[in-house]
Amino acid sequence: MDKVTISDLSQHEGKEVELRGWVYNTRSIGKIWFIILRDGTGLLQGVVVKGEASTDAFLLEQKLSQEDSVIITGLVKKEPRSVGGFELGIKDIIIINHVTEEYPISHKEHGADFLMTNRHLWLRSKRQNAIMRIRHQTVKAIRDFFDSNGFTLIDSPIFTSNAVEGTTTLFEVDYFERSAYLTQSGQLYQEAGATAFGKTYCFGPTFRAEKSKTRRHLTEFWMVEPEMAFVDIDENMTWAENLVGYIVSKVLENCKNEFDVLERDINILKHIVPPFPRITYDEAFEILKSNGSKFEYGNDFGAPDETILSQHFDKPLMIHRWPADIKAFYMKRDSNNNKLALGVDMIAPEGYGEIIGGGQREDNIETLVKRIRHHDLPLEPFKWYLDLRKYGSVPHSGFGLGLERTVAWLCGTRHIRETIPFPRTMTRLEP
Ligand code: 4AD
Ligand code: MG
Repeated sequence: MDKVTISDLSQHEGKEVELRGWVYNTRSIGKIWFIILRDGTGLLQGVVVKGEASTDAFLLEQKLSQEDSVIITGLVKKEPRSVGGFELGIKDIIIINHVTEEYPISHKEHGADFLMTNRHLWLRSKRQNAIMRIRHQTVKAIRDFFDSNGFTLIDSPIFTSNAVEGTTTLFEVDYFERSAYLTQSGQLYQEAGATAFGKTYCFGPTFRAEKSKTRRHLTEFWMVEPEMAFVDIDENMTWAENLVGYIVSKVLENCKNEFDVLERDINILKHIVPPFPRITYDEAFEILKSNGSKFEYGNDFGAPDETILSQHFDKPLMIHRWPADIKAFYMKRDSNNNKLALGVDMIAPEGYGEIIGGGQREDNIETLVKRIRHHDLPLEPFKWYLDLRKYGSVPHSGFGLGLERTVAWLCGTRHIRETIPFPRTMTRLEP
């Protein structure tokens, strides 16, 4: 007999098959009863009819619990009214593990905190399943994009000796007789990569000891960071919009069912095709002012400001040329205005906030040394980084796309914690 999964039942219509999974639910209507099975690839309704199923199987009705692990066999029938379009005429049910305590997550509503405490079980639910599949397809799209555009994967280390994005959000760890920090960004190592390979990227977990409890902040999140030699801020923005456009097209192609489960309006996403609007920080400031915002020039945009700005455009918005004082030490200044840094942020539509941060890097060694000092950073850990300006320095740019913020936007989930299998926040280290 064929051992199959729910997702490929369509290839087995009219045949008897074996499925392995977990009991999602059961219900009875007199002489027949139904078992809803989940196997990680989908849900399937099995129909248990006296005389057609084995006597043992038929008698299991009162005995099965939610999340019992089972092997079931039966006949695959087309049934458009059923979940997934197929039904199984049950022949036999074998219980592998019987759940004797009540499963914590029932089919009624639970609070977010309770669900997060039970994250290891919550991942089995339909909605969480859909989000994780979209995350997977997003990761795959990102890798495919860079792999097919001439980028080499250069993994950045996680233990580092220096800050990249300011010293206030560093996680310090004991590193033998000295201190190390969990990386905030792999960028500096990609800059070494770009001068060795032309175009590189890294994709891995990054860490910020941010004392923020917003729905957009994790202490551990995944970031993909491309870096390109001989690329200025304008071309950098073109790469950023093409990446995001590609991700959207791929998840739309591969995740139809998942978007259905999430009840996400995909017509909004279908519209996300490059080019994306590009405005300067000064122009963004004007938009905020004309909308009655009390935003003060020179600050970073807060979540409400980003929401106002994103509502002005129906595509992701790129904001470039920022007041240098609020940007990182490595950013190159605008040759037309020394107060501005050649940084760019991409703001997702619908109020999902900043998904990309990046820009053109300072390539002059003297200027860079000055900036490191100005930011009160120790020079010693940056010696190797300065070498990149000493030996064959070139104009170069790159950016970092936050995976979870991107997935939150794609899925339309308000809180970022649902977009990573096991979220780490200020208040959560378990499970
Ligand atoms: O804007 P950020 O801080 O930029 C950098 O780290 C650059 N060094 C990247 C580069 O140029 N290679 O972070 C980049 C992105 C943000 O736009 C956001 O999407 C995400 O990383 N991000 C976070 N996501 C979740 N939780 C947090 N605490 C995040 N901080 C940043
Ligand atoms: Mg940023």
